[in-house]
Amino acid sequence: MKNIAIIGGTGKVGTALSNQLKACGWSTNLLSSTDCKDWQTVKSAIKTSDIVGITMTTFPDGKAAFKIMSEALDQGKGVVTAEKAAIANHFSELQPYLHRMGLLATVGGGSKMLRLLLSHHTGIERMGGIVNGTFNFLSTQISLGKDISTALTAASAKDLCESGPLSLSELFISELRDVMLKSVLLFNLGCSERTYLKVSDLSYTHISEEYIKHFLNSPHLRLFVHFEKHSERKFSEEDLMFVKCGAWTIYASFTEIEKMPFARPWLPRNEENILAVQYDKDPDSWAVIRGMGAGPIPTAASMVDDVLRLAA
Ligand SMILES: NC(=O)c1ccc[n+]([C@@H]2O[C@H](COP(=O)([O-])OP(=O)(O)OC[C@H]3O[C@@H](n4cnc5c(N)ncnc54)[C@H](OP(=O)(O)O)[C@@H]3O)[C@@H](O)[C@H]2O)c1
Repeated sequence: MKNIAIIGGTGKVGTALSNQLKACGWSTNLLSSTDCKDWQTVKSAIKTSDIVGITMTTFPDGKAAFKIMSEALDQGKGVVTAEKAAIANHFSELQPYLHRMGLLATVGGGSKMLRLLLSHHTGIERMGGIVNGTFNFLSTQISLGKDISTALTAASAKDLCESGPLSLSELFISELRDVMLKSVLLFNLGCSERTYLKVSDLSYTHISEEYIKHFLNSPHLRLFVHFEKHSERKFSEEDLMFVKCGAWTIYASFTEIEKMPFARPWLPRNEENILAVQYDKDPDSWAVIRGMGAGPIPTAASMVDDVLRLAA
């Protein structure tokens, strides 16, 4: 019987991962934050496992998760993760080990959108997407006629607000940080040729609660991340995040759905995500992946895919 040590295994994604893997015949060793205070406990749990799963809280610097991932990789184990800050902050160090890592749950969770980038990562000319399920859920609910506070309550009830109950502007900043981490991963896995982005290269624009409400109350706007090669585009006041890296311009903004040629026919609803990729070989068409982005069950399901691939 194969065994997985799940760091943060008592949380929502960890519990769902454990249940799904048990159904596939795996045994699971769930480590809570208290267990992980003792480094020897973590080391020996890694030693006795075939694969290590990381479902602990995403802290901005990702240091604690990176230390555990490094130990697991040094011990020759495969690592699957839903935590995204370790890889977004330490991409260069982890890059040599990507073949032993499962990252599907880090961006777009259940949509498995990273598969598109990991399998066809050369020749990308442009990418765009909705990568934050929480904001897409709120925008969708409001476009269906709900008010912001009802939509926020519904998002919390669906476990979409990872940081728990927050004010609208705190939630906005927390989700924007999430968009930044995911943007770094999408860029490094899909666009980068030599230079990798680090989270510290990105910053977000501070905006008022009124401004956020204005965007959320506009049913035709969605929070899109854009990646454009050789683009003339400059920083605009409405950009929530903007960075240049090599030949690329990366920015996040509330964008009219009508302006996104790939999104109109496939507009993701509720907590779904979408990623559209344009390749230089076929500039007139988009490869599009759409599907569940957040939620413990779809997130755990994409980790199970990673586990089974690494264990095969
Ligand atoms: N929920 C989603 O839909 C979703 C989607 C995609 C990715 N993710 C990512 O998946 C991870 C888990 O999310 P979740 O929703 O399951 O959150 P959660 O329910 O809050 O679980 C987080 C777990 O991490 C543990 N933890 C905190 N600090 C730790 C440390 N230093 N060492 C070891 N364990 C620690 C917590 O233990 P205590 O309770 O003892 O503090 C808790 O069991 C996060 O990184 C999140 O960003 C979540």
